[in-house]
Amino acid sequence: MIKVLGINGSPRKGNSLFLLEKAMDEAAQIDTGVETSIYSFTGKRMAGCISCFKCGDKQGECIIRDDFQELREMWIEADVVIYSVPVYHMGMPAQVKAFIDRLGNSTFGRYQHLFTEEAKLPKSLKVIGAIAQGAHIFSGQEHTITDIINHAVIMQCIPVAGDMWEAYIGVGGWTYNDNSRKALREREREADLDLQVAIRASRNLGRRAVELGLILQAGGLAEQERFKDQPIYRPFLERVKGNRI
Ligand SMILES: Cc1cc2nc3c(=O)[nH]c(=O)nc-3n(C[C@H](O)[C@H](O)[C@H](O)COP(=O)(O)O)c2cc1C
Repeated sequence: MIKVLGINGSPRKGNSLFLLEKAMDEAAQIDTGVETSIYSFTGKRMAGCISCFKCGDKQGECIIRDDFQELREMWIEADVVIYSVPVYHMGMPAQVKAFIDRLGNSTFGRYQHLFTEEAKLPKSLKVIGAIAQGAHIFSGQEHTITDIINHAVIMQCIPVAGDMWEAYIGVGGWTYNDNSRKALREREREADLDLQVAIRASRNLGRRAVELGLILQAGGLAEQERFKDQPIYRPFLERVKGNRI
């Protein structure tokens, strides 16, 4: 079983969700063992980190109680995470950044019991893909995808892209200066090259992400004996066996 979590990083169900659904639809078709779920930021409260560092001595629990806890549990369980975000001010929306900040720091606390000396971030080896679209062209898509790739690397995960030439580092799209949440959906049937590329690239990203997830899972199962004494691999090795720690 491969669990694929799609994160719609927009406060509305719009263009980010539209491309995410293409990726998730393709992901679900790769294998009968693929389980997909979509988390939407729509209507959710995600406060920014207040730098209290309490998560370091509370088994990784964040003292701010809001929608963070729900998404964190989904994230921890997932083998593959696909972020689809709107570009805001050349970057990701503040809500998504708030989630990522709190996830990173609280994960140290969550797994500190595995390590005898300093807390480390385990090699969680999830596959992470990024879709970013904005109202305009050359207006932050690449920066935003790069930020998500950096997040993947920091979290000891593996970034995945679609295939060249349509998705160098992830999927980029634009709405032709249309601020409507239906901008992409309403143009879907048109033969516009940029939109068709974004749709194809999203599907492809979903496919490649699951394929890489399957490869990692098979590798983890095959090599579990070799790595079982290294705590840094524990969460990954438990996950590929269907357990969550
Ligand atoms: C606060 C804010 C900042 C934005 N900044 C950018 C930007 O820097 N570049 C861009 O291309 N679009 C920008 N946009 C437009 C959105 O990225 C665009 O409307 C997108 O399609 C919204 O996706 P959604 O339908 O998933 O919410 C911004 C929109 C908002 C609300």
